[in-house]
Amino acid sequence: MKSLIMKGARIIATGSAVPNSTINNSQMCQLVETSDEWIVTRTGIKERRILTGFNKSIIDLAVVASIKALDKISMHPSEIDLIILATSSPNDLFGSASQLQAKIKACNAVAFDLTAACSGFVLATVTASQFLQNGNYHNILVVGADVLSKWVNWSDRSTCILFGDAAGAVILQSCSKQDNKILGFQLNTDGNYYRHLSISYKEVINPHPILSLYQGYFESIYMNGKEVYKFAVSQVPLSILKCLNSLNLSINDIDWLLLHQANERILNAVADKLSIDSSKIIANLSKYGNTSAASIPLALDEAVQENKIAEDDIIVISGFGAGLTWGTLVIQWKYK
Ligand code: ACO
Repeated sequence: MKSLIMKGARIIATGSAVPNSTINNSQMCQLVETSDEWIVTRTGIKERRILTGFNKSIIDLAVVASIKALDKISMHPSEIDLIILATSSPNDLFGSASQLQAKIKACNAVAFDLTAACSGFVLATVTASQFLQNGNYHNILVVGADVLSKWVNWSDRSTCILFGDAAGAVILQSCSKQDNKILGFQLNTDGNYYRHLSISYKEVINPHPILSLYQGYFESIYMNGKEVYKFAVSQVPLSILKCLNSLNLSINDIDWLLLHQANERILNAVADKLSIDSSKIIANLSKYGNTSAASIPLALDEAVQENKIAEDDIIVISGFGAGLTWGTLVIQWKYK
């Protein structure tokens, strides 16, 4: 896909937040019939964070992640023009981004939610880059935040061992066209398979007696792990290749592979298929599990803090998950 860019865009700061409460695999064994060995060999996950306490929501995590990113570059929140909050676990179905906007006092920012589960951060960053590259906005805060612990069935061992809560934030800024560092993207959706991964709305059996209207409630997470696994391992490498081809880049140009942190086996299988050396994989899921929309910005922030990423490094980022939706974003790193 070709786009006419008027300006450039780049990431100028990152931040992240995780709850204090940790559940390791041995503690998981007290909740469901499982073992550390099963979880580690099938997923690579050793522990995850969960948001405990009354009235806590993604907003609490999103605020901390956002403020950390703003503080890193001493940016006043009033300089933010737009906030995109990628989440599938809002605390208000009408949207949570406005609460984040109010809490961080980003008084000049318009704010909206974007729902695309584990692909949410990629889609939100691509959306933000369009607003920057067409010259409409100057500073955009993108936050990926999810608290799937609130939507997990804690007696379903096939899903509850996987997920954790977190938020990750990036600030994108417009720049000259020559300095553009959001190099390109490739996005996909196939709704025919939405049933493989969902938090579906269940209508009650009896309709309203007068209106003949069915109301209901949201169920817990359902996942057909095998199908999602096969989908990720087959489709993500294709998306990466298409994106690289469109940019005239090759596998050898990749410095870092940053995939949605769903499962260590998926990360390794994708890298293997593309002949990317495993030393180039950014992974932190052993500590946090699958944090859905937060996983990529959380891992990116950690890698930046650890000084892993050098100036001008090419980072290939791919998200995949419910929808089914998946996609790739290629960026180049620039500190100043
Ligand atoms: N502990 C012990 N045994 C378990 C557990 C557990 N926690 N969970 C399942 N099992 C059992 C099953 O009951 C099954 O037993 P059986 O053979 O007697 O029937 C056996 O282990 C194998 O189960 P599978 O589901 O086939 O296990 P699999 O090897 O496929 O691994 C997993 C499951 C880890 C979920 C894997 O399929 C996976 O990672 N899938 C992809 C998930 C993913 O990528 N999600 C990303 C998107 S998330 C989002 O968008 C919100």
